[in-house]
Amino acid sequence: MTIDNRIIGAGIFSVILLLASCAGTTDPHSNKGTLALAYKDYFPIGAAVNSSTIDSHAELITGEFSSITAENEMKPSLAYPRYNQPSFFASDEIADFARENSLIMRGHCFIWHQQTPGWFFASMGGIADRETLLGRVNDYMTLMVERYGDVVYAWDVVNEAVSDEGPEILRDSPYLEIIGEDYIAEAFRMARAADPEARLFYNDYNVLDPKKQDRIYSLLESLLAEGVPVDGIGFQGHWNVNYPDGNTLVKAIDRFAALGLEVQITELDISAYEWNDRGFSWGSGAPPEKLLEKQALRYAEIFEALRSRSDIVSGVTFWGVADDGTWLDDFPVSNRKNWPLLFNESHEPKPAYDAVMNFQ
Ligand code: XIL
Repeated sequence: MTIDNRIIGAGIFSVILLLASCAGTTDPHSNKGTLALAYKDYFPIGAAVNSSTIDSHAELITGEFSSITAENEMKPSLAYPRYNQPSFFASDEIADFARENSLIMRGHCFIWHQQTPGWFFASMGGIADRETLLGRVNDYMTLMVERYGDVVYAWDVVNEAVSDEGPEILRDSPYLEIIGEDYIAEAFRMARAADPEARLFYNDYNVLDPKKQDRIYSLLESLLAEGVPVDGIGFQGHWNVNYPDGNTLVKAIDRFAALGLEVQITELDISAYEWNDRGFSWGSGAPPEKLLEKQALRYAEIFEALRSRSDIVSGVTFWGVADDGTWLDDFPVSNRKNWPLLFNESHEPKPAYDAVMNFQ
């Protein structure tokens, strides 16, 4: 072969490589580009963001995702900390970030037994009455919808209202005590009146636990039977490297879909630890390779299940952007490093990212 032929040969070889990679035969995700692009025919892919990560992780957020949720900034404790004095600075920054980058938003969350300021439930040194509390909830919803209704397409209207142990369906909360059992129905009706266009969600964790799932199902079934405007259920999706299997997830999705609900995974993260694994730690250095591989397999199984139900699943949101910003570093064990997301602490894709991107 002459030198010229070698150059031509090498040129043809590169063209073949290029064509092969465009056809997706060499690198499974290069031709899909980003999470949002790869899943554009399935569902929006979101991330929970906060006042810091919209700067520190801006490139990843805008590059990979199509939706965001404010991790804390739209909760009443931050957005409405004092009587008659809402505080919109942080939530405005996040909503503006979404608007500037053409991202859609999930609004999280109106009614929760946590991260709600004490004044909601108080009145002149005592406890507020039903009408007062309903009025405050209505004010808060109205303020939020007026300000963010243009960019928020779905609201978590009620979060975590169902009890963990039973037998009662609803957990104890000031809302239940002050308003009574119809507080959930009232909340959804007020949310619908405030935002007729948005999709309204009931959001909870442990939805795949059989007994808790039954309680959540009963609650939603009776709300829908009364004509309460619930559009969907959010499975938070705080899972781990051993749980759940795809079949359990598919069955749960189908069960709620049979009620006429859409399903979203609203707070997905795959912990390195099982819930009861409190004494053990992988340390704070780099996560072991075998752990990352196990996590990738779990993510692959979960996303395969979700893709198979993309007619029902209308959104999947991760609870964070990359492993350098995860609430699981302090929950349920404080100061224990965790690596639950698709991007590592240097914002590079992990094996889990490839697993989510690698499908036909
Ligand atoms: C968490 C945030 O990630 C933390 O920053 C905050 O300290 C506590 O709340 N279920 C929910 C989310 O619905 O709002 C929670 O977010 C995680 C559990």
